[in-house]
Amino acid sequence: MKNKRFVGVMFELLEQLLDTEEVSAAFSGMLEMLTRILNCEAGAVWLLDKDADRLVPIAQTGPVNFTNISAENGLGVEGLVTRDGKSIVIQDTMTGEYPGSVFDDCGPLVRSMLCVPLRNLTEVVGCLQLVNRKDSQGFDEEEQQLCERLAALGALTIEEKGFRVSAGERKQVLISLRGIIKEFPSGDGVLRVLKGIDLDIYQNEFVVILGESGCGKSTLVNIIAGMDHLTDGSLIIDGKDFSHPTDRELTRFRREYLGFVFQQYNLMPNLTAQENVQFIADLVRDPMTAEEAIAKVGLTERAGNFPSMLSGGQQQRVSIARAIVKNPKIIFADEPTAALDYQTSIEVLQVFEQIVQSRGSTVVMITHNPEIARMANRVVKLRNGVISSIRVNLHPAMAAELVW
Ligand SMILES: Nc1ncnc2c1ncn2[C@@H]1O[C@H](COP(=O)(O)OP(=O)(O)O)[C@@H](O)[C@H]1O
Ligand SMILES: [Mg+2]
Repeated sequence: MKNKRFVGVMFELLEQLLDTEEVSAAFSGMLEMLTRILNCEAGAVWLLDKDADRLVPIAQTGPVNFTNISAENGLGVEGLVTRDGKSIVIQDTMTGEYPGSVFDDCGPLVRSMLCVPLRNLTEVVGCLQLVNRKDSQGFDEEEQQLCERLAALGALTIEEKGFRVSAGERKQVLISLRGIIKEFPSGDGVLRVLKGIDLDIYQNEFVVILGESGCGKSTLVNIIAGMDHLTDGSLIIDGKDFSHPTDRELTRFRREYLGFVFQQYNLMPNLTAQENVQFIADLVRDPMTAEEAIAKVGLTERAGNFPSMLSGGQQQRVSIARAIVKNPKIIFADEPTAALDYQTSIEVLQVFEQIVQSRGSTVVMITHNPEIARMANRVVKLRNGVISSIRVNLHPAMAAELVW
C-alpha cells in the first residue's frame, strides 16, 4: 500500500527531476510529497559545499526558515549523515540518542527525524531530512529504504545537472580546538564537562556560543581564553600550540591578545571610567588611547564619572572599552547582557557589532538568549558538553532588530 504510493511518487519525481532546470524547485516538490505521504511536520534537503565544508539548504518545507543559514559538515544529524553517508532515524529525541540539529533553532523543536544521505555513484553530496511525524507511529524500515532511493535519485540528478551550492568563502583560522576534554574533580571521581570539542574560530567574525545553563559554555570559553587548563585535546592559537602552556606564556598571551567582558563589570570603584580603561592600557604594548576606547563605546561625556555614578549599561560599556583598549585580536564576552534590561542590552550589543565591523576583531560571545544568536556570523550550539550544531547566518541581524 505504502509502497504503491511511493512508486507513483518516484515516477513523478523522476520526471520532474529530469525535466527541470530548477533543481531546488524539484526538490521542494519532492519534500512536499514526502512530508505529505509520511505525515511529517517539516523537511529539508541539504547539499554539501566541499570547499567550505558546510551544508547549504536547497529546499525546505513546513514551518522552518533556513533561508539565511548553512550548517557545519559533520555536526548535528544533517552533518553526520552527510559526512558518514549513513541514514539516521530517531523515533523520539527524548528517549533516543540525539546529536542535535540546526532544525531546533530554525523551526519546530525536533521530536522525531528521518535523515538519509544524498548519494550518487561515487560520493555523498548532502542529505534529505524529514522531521516530526504527526502520528504516533515511528518511521519504519520500508519508509527509510524508499527515502534512501529517492535521495539517491536526487543525488544523481544533482550530479547530472552539475548543480553546485556555495556557503561563502572559508575564513582564516585564528583559534583551533581539537578533541577538547575538560574534567573537574567531583567527589571520588571526575565530572566530564566538555566531552570532545572540535571548533575553529576565524578572523573577524562574531561567534555566539549558545546553550542551556550548565552545558559547559563558560568552561569552554575559559579554556579557549587561557583562563583554565584543558584535560585533553589541543588548542592552537595563531599557529602556536597552547595546549599545555606555562603560566608565563599564558599570562602574556592573555594580556596581549585577548579582551574580556563578563556579566559582572568588575570595575575599580575608586577609579573614574577613563582611569579604569587607562589602567589596562598601561599594561600592554600597543594600546589605543583610553579616550579613543571610551569614545568608541559612546561614553566620552561620562569619562570622568566613577562607576557608582553610572548605570549598569554604562558600566558594562566601560568594561567593553577596557577590553578593546588593548587592541586585542579576540574579545570574549560571557553573558555580557545578562544583568541588563532589554534596551540597555541592545545598546551594549550595538557596541559589539561596531567592534566587529569597524576593527576587524573577532568576538566570541556566550549567551543563553537565542535571539542574540541572530546577530552572529556563526552560532555554535552546545548541549551537555558537546557541540550539537554550528550554523552560519549569511545575513546576520542588526542588534537594533532584535526583540525579546
Ligand atoms: N571549577 C569547577 N569545578 C567543578 N565543576 C565545575 C567547575 N566549573 C564548572 N563546573 C561544572 O561544569 C558544568 C558546566 O558549567 P559552565 O561551563 O559554567 O556552564 P554554562 O556556562 O554553560 O552555564 C556545570 O555542571 C558546573 O557545575
Ligand atoms: Mg556560564
